[in-house]
Amino acid sequence: MYKKILVAIDGSELSTKAALHGAELASKMGAELMLFHVVPPLPSFDNMSPDRVGNIHQELVDEFFKQGREILSQTEAKLAVHGVGISTGITLGHPAEEICKKVDSDRCDLLIMGSRGLGQIKGYLMGSVSNRVCRHAKCPVLVVR
Ligand SMILES: Nc1ncnc2c1ncn2[C@@H]1O[C@H](COP(=O)(O)OP(=O)(O)OP(=O)(O)O)[C@@H](O)[C@H]1O
Ligand SMILES: [Mg+2]
Repeated sequence: MYKKILVAIDGSELSTKAALHGAELASKMGAELMLFHVVPPLPSFDNMSPDRVGNIHQELVDEFFKQGREILSQTEAKLAVHGVGISTGITLGHPAEEICKKVDSDRCDLLIMGSRGLGQIKGYLMGSVSNRVCRHAKCPVLVVR
């Protein structure tokens, strides 16, 4: 039924749960699994003087990419028992928008994500990323709780 499953990973417990769910489903369906992380853009400071801050902005972005790759490989390692083919992807941008774009560009037929992520504000059933993706993604979305 599903051939290519995308799991959105932010390093939260629920995104790991979503990945485990995806791996089990992929192994049962003979589907490919892709773990995808989005590095959110840093705020831009228009008055940032390049001679005073040097490459700090780029260094921070590099560090977030490094951290994102670590999150992806740690999650991937937890899925090994399921023996499914796993690929990973990482990009810079607004998470909900990039996740929806990835579904389209890679022709994914199922997207799996957590209902909440790393956000600190409790009380909402869904975070802003899962909320937005559920409304805009062009494929079925499975929200793990
Ligand atoms: N940067 C990201 N890259 C990939 N997936 C993400 C990212 N951020 C969130 N997700 C996915 O969305 C799910 C829900 O996270 P979301 O960010 O919506 O909730 P939250 O962090 O609790 O709230 P908020 O971010 O609005 O404060 C996560 O479990 C994960 O699957
Ligand atoms: Mg979040």
